[in-house]
Amino acid sequence: MGEPGDGRTGESGDAVCCILHPTMSKQKTFYSCTECGATAAKWQGQCPGCNLWNTLVETVEEKASPAARFQSLAPPARLQTLAEIPAREHERIATGIPEFDRALGGGLVAGGVVLIGGDPGIGKSTLLLQALAGLSDEHSVLYVSGEESGEQVALRARRLSLDTRKLQLLAEINLEKILSTLQAEKPLVAVIDSIQTLWSDQLSSAPGSVAQVRECAAQLTRLAKTVGITVVLVGHVTKEGALAGPRVLEHIVDTVLYFEGDTHSSFRLVRAFKNRYGAVNELGVFAMTDRGLKGVSNPSALFLSQHGQAVAGSCVMVTQEGTRPLLVEIQALVDQSHGNPRRLTVGLEAQRLAMLLAVLHRHAGIVCFDQDVFVNAVGGVKIAEPAADLAVLMAIISSLKNKALPEKIIVFR
Ligand code: TYD
Ligand code: MG
Repeated sequence: MGEPGDGRTGESGDAVCCILHPTMSKQKTFYSCTECGATAAKWQGQCPGCNLWNTLVETVEEKASPAARFQSLAPPARLQTLAEIPAREHERIATGIPEFDRALGGGLVAGGVVLIGGDPGIGKSTLLLQALAGLSDEHSVLYVSGEESGEQVALRARRLSLDTRKLQLLAEINLEKILSTLQAEKPLVAVIDSIQTLWSDQLSSAPGSVAQVRECAAQLTRLAKTVGITVVLVGHVTKEGALAGPRVLEHIVDTVLYFEGDTHSSFRLVRAFKNRYGAVNELGVFAMTDRGLKGVSNPSALFLSQHGQAVAGSCVMVTQEGTRPLLVEIQALVDQSHGNPRRLTVGLEAQRLAMLLAVLHRHAGIVCFDQDVFVNAVGGVKIAEPAADLAVLMAIISSLKNKALPEKIIVFR
């Protein structure tokens, strides 16, 4: 409820009014537990319901309007069978970057909400600026920058030699202002860079907090669906690899893409993690150049290191990513341990390495309990397939025996 003298007029506080009157008073908030749903008026460290720590997040109170209350007395709706509902294929908006379209499952969908996650500096802003510049020729697009000033974005666009004559920019972090601008301008595609910088004046938590991120994403998604704008949200990833903010963000949006890659190599992968409009197994492959991200349409030999001759501890495997096979080099280093033996993986699952070493001991009689074992997938690619097991074992044995595998050997399952 509004406080006296705050200029709030009447009780017509429905969602549209919130969007059109960003200066409206704060809505009442309370704290709810993300685990058990218990509520508290004030923030506290421990949930009064389930006694877990740090699970209370600020939530806006949604009062049912008189109209909504009346709806509960409305006559029942007519039901339809699925066969009666016309199921059209969604029209795709090609971004003009084939590798990006491939990861999206064929392009952007009108009214769809896409989340792009990745480490800072991996190329999220660069890719989206390139995509918007390409789209701006034929469609109305808007780049909302909360992280960089207009000048910084313009400078980057100039360095990338992009045609920016029709690329509109809004440097803003206030959610209500962004919503009203989107509603007035109705661009076909809007990029929000990034969701962690936005803040809604309905909540008192800081930008980037769980409550703010969730509320901003929910409001933007609602607008995208009602007005038919394609919204692309940029999200940062924490050190643990989870999207900073709630996992609930992944449930709100239609498509989740993650940037992968080693910041020391120039290759970047865009992998679909969830897609309500298409398959999730496709992978977009890019190379970061001085002119931005360039798609790599034949990526088979990217993930190999360049050796003059065969070296010990190296094994090349074939992994299937979507419809394309990729050649990936697995490197292992096995060395005498001093103290607790260490097991470290880059791009592969660490727990699985421990299991593979146990298999090696039990079934092949090869012991590694006095050895440090380090395993790396070249080029920053992440391999979750069990098909990597054989290549990992061969690389380990090759390093342990200090004997290179024959030069023209390739491993697949
Ligand atoms: P950026 O898109 O700003 O990353 P994110 O938005 O994911 O944080 O990427 C910035 C990095 O990319 C930066 O380290 C410099 C590099 N880069 C290039 O190598 N070439 C280029 O043309 C551009 C624009 C950036
Ligand atoms: Mg950025």
